[in-house]
Amino acid sequence: MKIAVTGANSSVGQNLLEQLKNEPEIKITAGVRSERAFSGLPKSMTIDPHIIAYDDPASLETAMADADCVVHLAGILIEAKNSNYASANVAATAAVVQAAMKSSVKHLIFISVVGASKNSSNAYFRSKGSAEQLIKESGLTASILRTPILLGPGAAGASAIMGLASAGQTKVLGGGKYCMRPLDIDDLSTAIIQICKNPPDGQVTHELVGPESMTYRDIIKKTAELMGKTVEIGSVPIVIAKIGSAIASTLKGGGMTPTVIDVITKDEVVQTNADKAIGITLTPLEDTLKKIINTGN
Ligand SMILES: NC(=O)c1ccc[n+]([C@@H]2O[C@H](COP(=O)([O-])OP(=O)(O)OC[C@H]3O[C@@H](n4cnc5c(N)ncnc54)[C@H](OP(=O)(O)O)[C@@H]3O)[C@@H](O)[C@H]2O)c1
Repeated sequence: MKIAVTGANSSVGQNLLEQLKNEPEIKITAGVRSERAFSGLPKSMTIDPHIIAYDDPASLETAMADADCVVHLAGILIEAKNSNYASANVAATAAVVQAAMKSSVKHLIFISVVGASKNSSNAYFRSKGSAEQLIKESGLTASILRTPILLGPGAAGASAIMGLASAGQTKVLGGGKYCMRPLDIDDLSTAIIQICKNPPDGQVTHELVGPESMTYRDIIKKTAELMGKTVEIGSVPIVIAKIGSAIASTLKGGGMTPTVIDVITKDEVVQTNADKAIGITLTPLEDTLKKIINTGN
């Protein structure tokens, strides 16, 4: 079997490539945008690194040649001067869909987010919803995985929690009273590999979240406790944070914005968790937290 991965240097991509080392019969085409990312990819007999450009259809078609499954990981939450939701989340997906339609690809896996909707008033959720819509309209057989915050070594969310848990005294948005369903990044990679091996017919949209719901505040406290520390958590009023981020992001051309604040402070709620449908066993949250503590991020 051959899998083509976009955004192979992302935290999910790196984790997926690591897990795929245990699957020597699976060949991987790892697509990245830069020489720097190219040279950082793991060296392995089964990994074939490719530089791809989303405005160069030939580069995508070459990377997808003979692939059974495409795993589209490229995408962002935090916009930067050179990357916004329109380019990273929507245009990149449109380009991947076009290339997949011209290739022999049998299944497309797209990592979306819990709350994605093309009609959302939030620009991030709207961009992921628009990307989902492009996939649905393509007629390709596809699995859309709507995920919550991902935790594991290397994930941005994990570094933030470790930093806050180690701080002794800290302040978080709204006191961290919003509920999260963090998903272990290893479980996401396992789910992706499982779907590649047994792709469903047609198109499926799954919500795949972690096994427990906990407030952000309690996740930080639990992490501190597992580290043998205590942490006092105060509150940054969300309204103030939004005003500050609106000014700073306008000056910087990206970074934390009111849109991002709305995303990270929204309760992560799902109707049906897809773990059983996909056939994976979820890692208990405490084990995930221990993993990130033991690896230092
Ligand atoms: N991390 C989470 O908690 C979380 C939660 C829900 C959904 N997701 C989704 O899961 C996927 C992987 O997330 P991640 O956290 O592993 O990502 P990440 O580490 O932040 O990496 C982002 C990836 O997107 C690529 N990218 C950035 N701007 C781009 C653009 N304009 N066009 C094409 N590619 C672009 C980056 O390539 P360069 O290095 O070349 O910039 C990189 O490969 C993303 O689609 C993300 O939206 C993540």
